[in-house]
Amino acid sequence: MAKSPSRPDKATPPKSAAKEAGTRAAARQSAGGPSSSGSDDAPDASARHAAGVQALAASMPYPVNKRLEHGLEHGHHPSPGATAEPASAEVTASTLSEGRASRKLGEGLPSIGHNPAVGPLDRVRTDASAQALTTNQGVRVGDNQNSLKAGLRGPALLEDFILREKITHFDHERIPERIVHARGSAAHGYFECTRAVPELTRAAPFQTEGQRTPVFVRFSTVAGERGSVDTARDVRGFAVKFYSDDGNWDLVGNNIPVFFIQDAMKFPDLVHAVKPEPHHGMPQAASAHDTFWDFVSLMPESTHMLMWVMSDRAIPRSYRMMQGFGVHTFRLVNAEGESRFVKFHWRPLLGTHSLVWDEAVKISGADPDFHRRDLWEAIEAGEYPQWELGLQVFTEEDADGFSFDILDATKLVPEELVPVVPVGRLVLNRNPDNFFAETEQVAFCAAHVIPGIDFSNDPLLAGRIHSYVDTQISRLGGPNFHEIPINAPIAQVHNNQRDGMHRQAIHRGRVAYEPNSLGGGCPFQAGAQGFVSFPQPVYEDKVRGKPQKFAEHYLQATLFYNSQTEVERRHIAGAFRFELSKVTVPAIRQRMLASLANVSAELAEEVARGLGMDVPAAMPRALDEVPDPEVTESPALSLTAHPGEGGIRSRKVAILVANGVESGLLGSVAQTMLDQGATSRYVGLRVGPIATANGEPIDADASMENSPSVLFDAVVLPGGEAAVQALAADPHTVPFIRDAWLHGKTILSIGASSTLLGMAGVMATLPTGEPDPGIAQVGPDDAAHACSWLVNAMAQHRHVERERAGISASPPPPREATVGAG
Ligand code: HEM
Repeated sequence: MAKSPSRPDKATPPKSAAKEAGTRAAARQSAGGPSSSGSDDAPDASARHAAGVQALAASMPYPVNKRLEHGLEHGHHPSPGATAEPASAEVTASTLSEGRASRKLGEGLPSIGHNPAVGPLDRVRTDASAQALTTNQGVRVGDNQNSLKAGLRGPALLEDFILREKITHFDHERIPERIVHARGSAAHGYFECTRAVPELTRAAPFQTEGQRTPVFVRFSTVAGERGSVDTARDVRGFAVKFYSDDGNWDLVGNNIPVFFIQDAMKFPDLVHAVKPEPHHGMPQAASAHDTFWDFVSLMPESTHMLMWVMSDRAIPRSYRMMQGFGVHTFRLVNAEGESRFVKFHWRPLLGTHSLVWDEAVKISGADPDFHRRDLWEAIEAGEYPQWELGLQVFTEEDADGFSFDILDATKLVPEELVPVVPVGRLVLNRNPDNFFAETEQVAFCAAHVIPGIDFSNDPLLAGRIHSYVDTQISRLGGPNFHEIPINAPIAQVHNNQRDGMHRQAIHRGRVAYEPNSLGGGCPFQAGAQGFVSFPQPVYEDKVRGKPQKFAEHYLQATLFYNSQTEVERRHIAGAFRFELSKVTVPAIRQRMLASLANVSAELAEEVARGLGMDVPAAMPRALDEVPDPEVTESPALSLTAHPGEGGIRSRKVAILVANGVESGLLGSVAQTMLDQGATSRYVGLRVGPIATANGEPIDADASMENSPSVLFDAVVLPGGEAAVQALAADPHTVPFIRDAWLHGKTILSIGASSTLLGMAGVMATLPTGEPDPGIAQVGPDDAAHACSWLVNAMAQHRHVERERAGISASPPPPREATVGAG
């Protein structure tokens, strides 16, 4: 450990008046000077400053820490930088005139050791209430309606700086969108440590139970452009920025625990393949096209990820109802420098729930902002989404024993092998003030780690460590985007980086290098208090290649498929069928089927049947000897393994209404929903007041035209003959009810509305003869029963019994339809 030089001794006073006059004169020069400076009790500021600078520099006569920079010991335990304290604040000032105060300069007092640019967001929130409109220069604008013209009908004048500033700013309002994950939504919140794990990591958020770390979380789709739809079949980004006391830590993950590729070298290829095809720019936000399937069918390592992306995981009901994963193996490092591997898991308290494909497609048209709206509305309503953070922790020795490589991002670590241990919870409790300033300008980066968190050698992660800051330099217009308020840490920022586009901080003093003596050695290196990379030994040939275990491509794809319920497996087959049916080149379909034959004969046959093809011979594997997997079925991989807390909070019910409706029971339903934290909306033939049979006014705040049933979790059909007749006559009613039925939703029918069920072809009994648990028909006076039934039925999320019995918007292809294309 280096000793920090102590406070400098006072400089020796000058010996004669002539010499003092000389040094005082020299202190006024900005170049050159005598062999000694004046004393720090000299009568003028220049001389005192020069003396102080001399004393400070003299107190660091040589680089005391230089020899500590060498050797392994330093690598493991770096020492803090040497520092010296200046005799007064004035010694390190940029200018002797810094004490001038004004309404622009402020008090003029230096803010020693402090960077206000990283203060809380409050400092930059602005509000214009009761304020006049101004230009960006603060000049009040007299007229915001007309440009300056030579005469009322004359030409506009170039001199109109107000118009030109306004239009010029407008012209530059857009910035490049993210190259991937362009469409997303975000919220503020906190991470609370529920189990301190200092024995595993020194990372600040995990040190004390109950400790809260502010976070900003952005969810996204990957392939679509910024204006694309929310419910596309796609991976969802799940990026969490922890504003920790030790700096920002970004856990930039996805809602799927594995990835398509193993090496960063292939990321541009993957993204080029899935993005709209370059010749015609189609399709938007969809993987169902030639180039994607051409690429992945030639990349068998993507098969495991394909199983997840073709499952219902890729069409979540809500951002609030999906898991999140760090994907890569990371390291935890404790204060003693001991390290273990870790996988991060976010588990939603509301459970994991998804849409069905037909519903997702219809929502894309009805409300392209479905997920964005859902997140926003839930937070505004006080229904704060929550996740539990779990860690899978294992040692290097454990990892060596696994049949797969933990550096391979196409593999997960089954929970049966390494359990997930909960350590904290994430709560999102505040929407952003401004979408652009926060959600659009936030810059997550896989390289942002803090002491206690470190990387593994995953070669995909290595590329990410480079990629994010690199892309953000162009997306956010230069190297200073860390100063944009949403990106600034709450931890102090002090370094010698300077200048660049849009620099916000005004650095005091003239020192922008290290080592220095003119700034007393500051900012100094933090030594072991700072980030110290885990010293993993590396003794290998420098090569381009992959470890042997990376060559096993199918075991975990099979594990995933075998761990799904029958309905989930059917959806996976349906998604492959749909996507491959959009491919125009039969050879690509053929190749993909050959790959699927290595996953599951059942799956390959089901998909082939849907494409009118035979299953080809299985694709040759890259590995001759397939290892024995430790786990062949993992129930945790099914969405049904995480039903959540079972309530109906934040779910949505559509109550159909029309003139003549019997409102009594409807009011009870609406009240019950409110009590349960759910929302109900009166959906009419049009919006506006409805004349009810009992004279009680109802105001329809939605219509079947603007809010089809795909936007709701349940439907209530009202009693009242006249209302039922009016609904029966409207062309929206049948698809409204039928879709809800085919999508497995809860339907409560009151009194005369059973006619509407019949019109929509909805059967209260399943083809098996069992009653449908998601359909109830009640009398108009049966409020208590109706409401409790509705709550329980909605808590099931979806009634899969219907689909198991063959009632679904996208049933499997009929067996007899297969001709066999050979
Ligand atoms: C070598 C592989 C990868 C590269 C080169 C890469 C690169 C990028 C780039 C350039 C962005 C846009 C960043 C921005 O403009 O702010 C991005 C966003 C993102 N990436 Fe990756 N990525 C890779 C793999 C992954 C993986 C494996 C995951 C999941 C674990 C992932 C998750 C995300 C997320 C969640 C975002 C959106 C962040 C946000 O909400 O702003 N990426 N990625």
